[in-house]
Amino acid sequence: MTQTVLEIFSHFIDQPVTQVEICEIGHINSTWFVTAADGKKYVLQKINKNIFKQPEVVMNNIVAVTDFIREILRANGGDVERGALNALISDSGEHYLIDEDGEYWRLYDFITDATCYLSADSTELFCKVGYAFGHFQSQLADFDASVLGETIPNFHNTAIRYQTFLRAVEADVCGRAASVAEDIRFVTERAEKCSFIVDRIATGELPLRVTHNDTKLNNIMMDNTTGEGICILDLDTIMPGSVLYDFGDSIRFGASSAAEDETDLDKVFIREDMFRAYTEGFLKGLGGSLSEAEIKALPMGAYVITLETGIRFLTDYLEGDTYFRIHREGHNLDRARNQFKLVADMEAKMEKLNAIVAEFVKS
Ligand SMILES: Nc1ncnc2c1ncn2[C@@H]1O[C@H](COP(=O)(O)OP(=O)(O)O)[C@@H](O)[C@H]1O
Ligand SMILES: [Mg+2]
Repeated sequence: MTQTVLEIFSHFIDQPVTQVEICEIGHINSTWFVTAADGKKYVLQKINKNIFKQPEVVMNNIVAVTDFIREILRANGGDVERGALNALISDSGEHYLIDEDGEYWRLYDFITDATCYLSADSTELFCKVGYAFGHFQSQLADFDASVLGETIPNFHNTAIRYQTFLRAVEADVCGRAASVAEDIRFVTERAEKCSFIVDRIATGELPLRVTHNDTKLNNIMMDNTTGEGICILDLDTIMPGSVLYDFGDSIRFGASSAAEDETDLDKVFIREDMFRAYTEGFLKGLGGSLSEAEIKALPMGAYVITLETGIRFLTDYLEGDTYFRIHREGHNLDRARNQFKLVADMEAKMEKLNAIVAEFVKS
């Protein structure tokens, strides 16, 4: 593989290579850290074409968004070098290189003097994650989201996810539906909720914004000096959408008391302290760029995205586990039930969650 890495690298940078390290973080693309003879470090990635069917669209989105952020950093005296991903141009004249197998490669400058964390178990760190993603959103507040291509069409269209689920129940290709009748009912009883976000986007109540769609801790580089987020990574799923998608997914994943596949459901609930920490950081980072309707809907955003994720797990279970990789029998069903427990907990706590959001709007 190193031979391939060296060969591809040479199409971007005319320098001998002194070191190649494989990156073990991230599960979508293949990533290597490459150091050149002049000491400069780069990140070489092979784009996962199974997931991203149109890599050109992915790269166009990334370049448009990062160029926009760089302009803001330049104007505000920010860190132009490290504050946004910088995709380099290959000798093909594009921000990517297509190899002889039709695979797409790209090269970024390595973000120096920064750390990528794997898990946020403290409210302090989770607050910083919220701030970083809120700040990213605020930098893009004036970016015209409609120029972006949809790299995964209808990714967070919960209403369409629900229709797909109904078809999976109907088809019942694995004969599993009868044994999960209660879980199916849990979903159908909440059918209306699935349209909460899409309906509001359609009426204009929720504006289309640039959404990141993978707002995890390991997609932020934290500055080693300030401890704050310095650069948002992993921009493959940047698309037009609602701010509720990003907030919702962060809460679903990061404010849960347990792992996504914990089967002891007594251990699974929404941690209010983590919800508060993220909300505080997110709204601060946004610096007032959200509308009142968006802020008010944040808890419902978390609710809908959690419900959507549960629906996707249950759909995959019914379809024979073809999308999410499983490590044991019934793994996707366990994951679905785990998400549904969170949904039920959020229903019970909705007033409290709304009150937490309101605290930060007043102050
Ligand atoms: N420009 C960069 N500078 C430093 N580290 C990076 C950079 N880009 C990616 N990484 C590291 O590589 C990991 C995987 O990259 P990412 O783009 O998130 O791929 P994936 O889509 O597979 O998650 C990141 O979590 C981060 O640790
Ligand atoms: Mg990543």
